[in-house]
Amino acid sequence: MYTPEMRELIKKVEATRSKRLGHDFPRLSPEEKLEILKKNHPDYIESGFRTINLGVNKGQKVPLELANLIEAKSRIEMDKINLQKIDYDVDVLIVGAGGAGASAAIEAFKTGAKVMIATKLRFGDANTMMAEGGIQAADKPDDSPAKHYLDVMGGGHFTNIPELVRALVHDAPEAIKWLNDYGVMFDKEEDGTMLTNHGGGTSRKRMHAAADYSGAEIMRVLRDEVRNLGVEVVEFSPVVELLKDSDGKVAGAILFNLETEEYSVVKAKTVILTTGGAGRLHYQGFPTSNHYGATADGLILGYRVGAELAFADTIQYHPTGVAFPSQIFGALVTEKVRGLGATPLNVDGEQFVYHLETRDIEASAIINECKVNKKGINTPTGEVGVWLDTPLIDIIHGEGTLEKRLPAMYRMFKKFGIDMTKEPILIYPTLHYQNGGLLINEYGETKIENLYVAGECAGGIHGRNRLMGNSLLDIIVFGRRAGKSAGNKSKNVIVKELTLEHVKQYHEELKKNGIETDRISPLLLPHYRHGADKIDK
Ligand code: FUM
Repeated sequence: MYTPEMRELIKKVEATRSKRLGHDFPRLSPEEKLEILKKNHPDYIESGFRTINLGVNKGQKVPLELANLIEAKSRIEMDKINLQKIDYDVDVLIVGAGGAGASAAIEAFKTGAKVMIATKLRFGDANTMMAEGGIQAADKPDDSPAKHYLDVMGGGHFTNIPELVRALVHDAPEAIKWLNDYGVMFDKEEDGTMLTNHGGGTSRKRMHAAADYSGAEIMRVLRDEVRNLGVEVVEFSPVVELLKDSDGKVAGAILFNLETEEYSVVKAKTVILTTGGAGRLHYQGFPTSNHYGATADGLILGYRVGAELAFADTIQYHPTGVAFPSQIFGALVTEKVRGLGATPLNVDGEQFVYHLETRDIEASAIINECKVNKKGINTPTGEVGVWLDTPLIDIIHGEGTLEKRLPAMYRMFKKFGIDMTKEPILIYPTLHYQNGGLLINEYGETKIENLYVAGECAGGIHGRNRLMGNSLLDIIVFGRRAGKSAGNKSKNVIVKELTLEHVKQYHEELKKNGIETDRISPLLLPHYRHGADKIDK
C-alpha cells in the first residue's frame, strides 16, 4: 500500500533502529513542555474559540462550533407537544447509552428505582465502544490510589477538581473488580494476575486492557447486564430538550423519534445525562476518533436548563490518529502501541520526543515536527504525519506480541496492505476527547436539582488534559456514582407540573443579547451531507 517514495523513506527508519533500541529519548523539562504546548496545541489557537453571549458561562470562551450550538434555538415545535400526555413515567431517566449510561442504569436499578434509557442511535453506539487501550486502576502491590491521584493531577496540569480526582482513583480498584465479576475478559497471566501496562504520564503500570478492544469488551458486558435486568431502552430517540417542573427542578425530557419524527414526553424524578463527547464537531478542522453521534448534545441540553460548563475550552487531540491510508484517516491508533514501545520518528528516521509524554505534549510535539520543523512525511493524499515505529514492539517483547496484544490494530492496517509488525505506520493527532463538560460534584450532581451527569459529558475530573485509560475509568466510576445518587434521590422527589418555560426564556435571552440565528440545537447528527458545511462556524 505504501508508495515507492514512502518505502524509500522507511529505509531511513530501519537505518536508525538499532541505534535507538534500548535508549529512552530524553523527556522534556516543565519549561519546554509549556513552550511546545503554547506554540502548537490547538487549545492555544485563539481563532478556534470565541466567548459565549448568554447563559451561566456568559463571557467565557469555548470552541467556535460549540458556541454556535449554544447560541441556537431549540429543535422542538412547542405546538406539537402536549405536556399533559405522559408517554413514559419513570424514576430515573438516563440519556445516552454508552458505558456511563449503562453503569448508571445498573446502579440506579439496584436502588429499586424504575429506570429507563433513551438514546439517539443504538444501545452501545458510543465512544466507549471505540475505546481501545485500557482502563487505569491502582490495584497492584507497587501502586496506590495516592500515586494514581498524583499522576492524574500532573497530567491535568494541576487544574483538575481535587474531589473528583479523589473519587476517580479511590473507586478504581473496585471498578475493575466490578467489571471482572460481570465477565469482562481482561488480559491476564496464566495464573490469573491482570496484565498491566504504562500509558503516557503514568508512574506505574496500571492500564488494564482487553487486547486493543477494551471498550467494546466492557460495553458488551454492561449492555448484557442492563438487558438482563430488564431496564427499558428506547433507541433512535434522542432527547431534544429537558423538562422542568413548576418548582424549576429538572423533571424529564422530550424525545424525538428519528424514524417517525414524533415527540414523546418522559416524566422523570431524576435525569442523568451520559451523552458523551463532541468529536463530530471537528474543532479546528481536525479529523476524529469519535463515533458518529458525538455532537455535544448533552452540553446543549444541560446548558439550556442552567447547568454550568467547566473546562469547555480544552480539547484532547490524541497524538496518534491514522494519517495514512486515507480510508481510515483520523481513526485511533491506541496509545498502547506506544505503551508497548513504538516510538514517533520524523522524515529522517529520527526520534524527536519521548514516546510516552502526556497526550497534550506528545500531540504538540508531533504538530511542531510537521508544521514548524517541516520534518513530517507527506502522504499521497495531501496529508502529513510522522512514523510510529511499530516493528519495535516484537523486537522488544518477542515475535507475535503485536498480533496478540493489538489484534484489531494489526487487522485494521493489514486490510490496506500495511504489515505493522514489519513496517512503521503514519500518524498525526486526531480529535479524541472533550476534557471539560457539565460541572459535577463527586456524586455526579449538577447545581440544577435532579440533574446528574456522568462520562465524557461531565467536566472537572481531568482538568486541562486527561491521561489514557482514565476515561473508561471515569464512565464506570461516575456512571455508578450518578446512578446510585439519582436512584436514591428519586425516592424523595415529587414532580410538580411539567413545563418548557425555560426554553421560552432561553429564546428570549437570545433575543435580549442580540443573537439573531436560524441555527437549532442539539445538532444530533454531523453535517456530512453533500454540499453542507462540514464545520458549522
Ligand atoms: O489510546 C487509547 O487507547 C485511548 C485511550 C483513552 O482515550 O483513554
